[in-house]
Amino acid sequence: MVDFTLTDEQKALQEMAHDFAAKEMRSVAWECDKEGAWPEDVLKKAFEIGLMNSHIAEEYGGPGASYLDGVLIEEEIGWGCSGIGTSLAANGLALAPLVLGGSEELKQRILGHVTSEPIFASFCLTEPDAGSDVSGMRTSAVKKGDKYVLNGSKCFITNGSYASYFTVYAKTDKDAGHRGISAFLVPKDDTITVDKKEDKMGQRASDTATISFNDTEIPVGNLIGEENKGFKLAMMTLDRTRPGVAAMAVGIARAAFEFATDYSKQRVQFGVPIAMHQAIQFMIADMATKVHLSRLATWQSAVLLDQGKRNTIESSHAKRFAADTAMEVTTDAVQVYGGYGFMKEYPVEKLMRDAKIMQLYEGTSQIQRLVIARETLLPRRLEEPVVA
Ligand code: CAA
Repeated sequence: MVDFTLTDEQKALQEMAHDFAAKEMRSVAWECDKEGAWPEDVLKKAFEIGLMNSHIAEEYGGPGASYLDGVLIEEEIGWGCSGIGTSLAANGLALAPLVLGGSEELKQRILGHVTSEPIFASFCLTEPDAGSDVSGMRTSAVKKGDKYVLNGSKCFITNGSYASYFTVYAKTDKDAGHRGISAFLVPKDDTITVDKKEDKMGQRASDTATISFNDTEIPVGNLIGEENKGFKLAMMTLDRTRPGVAAMAVGIARAAFEFATDYSKQRVQFGVPIAMHQAIQFMIADMATKVHLSRLATWQSAVLLDQGKRNTIESSHAKRFAADTAMEVTTDAVQVYGGYGFMKEYPVEKLMRDAKIMQLYEGTSQIQRLVIARETLLPRRLEEPVVA
């Protein structure tokens, strides 16, 4: 059955996230963007009302929200400010490998801690020389007795400067390509350094850092899943988190669409509001269609997960289409504002800068096309299990 009707609980959740985005996020978003400031108070409040860690099950202290619930939240926080939204959502990415493949002891300990206070975890996959090509990573984890010793550097790490935990992918067999990567849960300690905080084009309220592990020791029990099975865990994680990124892109696009629509009704040129000109009407119409289709693709990719089905291609469809939509719609919103759109005094230039990262992080739009092409031309077996 195809049914896009939200339940009363889902509508209430959406409304709560929207109110938070409108009151708490938008009130500081443009200032945080200007200053590149970390909005600690907003993040704490979001934690308190349950907008962080939404996918963590109730048995570990989380709200146990569905994936569809998650994308409803992420669209609203993306609408409020995707920079702050990225900081809020990053625990979901960092902790997904643990939820998928961690031992019960590790889940109880770490997920229990993360849901008990507003602390952050970071997903450490990307390296300076291993971006899209994950298997080219060099960070190593060497087993010594009952410990692993980690060495290496990870870049573009969301919330890296503030994280209490890192989910780190490292080579446990350097000659085995993607089959030599393992995932680890690494608590922050003095051997872990923040080498660089990035000064970014957009999403300037979110923290993005380079993190190094320097002879960092962790107990063998902090291995997530099996040794040398980390690559698949990373891919399965991204299948689950790309719908959330797509939702955030929908939120950015919707925000730009609303600003442009309102402005087009107020701005008078040639004696009428510019909304009366067909050139503007068609831009508004295209924006509306793209936002609508992005949302449908996003919801479907989330619902498949809620149904326990593999969503690799749908997740890439949603992430690719919504990210490209966010870029196109925000660019057109600037166009609707004309010269004013280029000025920082008006809201849409921030959205255009924020939108760009949606086509880059959690797999570029080109990587999404690569996944879609592979899944289309050489689909993997349908009966493949969803869990690790
Ligand atoms: N689920 C389960 N298994 C999967 C899978 C999936 N979705 N996709 C691939 N696999 C399996 C394959 O079946 C294959 O298994 P075998 O070992 O049994 O053969 C194995 O993984 C290797 O698959 P590929 O040959 O397809 O691997 P590849 O090296 O060609 O890479 C890729 C594929 C799609 C390009 C992948 O590397 C990729 O997604 N790259 C992008 C990485 C990315 O998104 N980075 C973002 C980092 S996170 C971030 O940005 C957040 C932040 O904080 C800023």
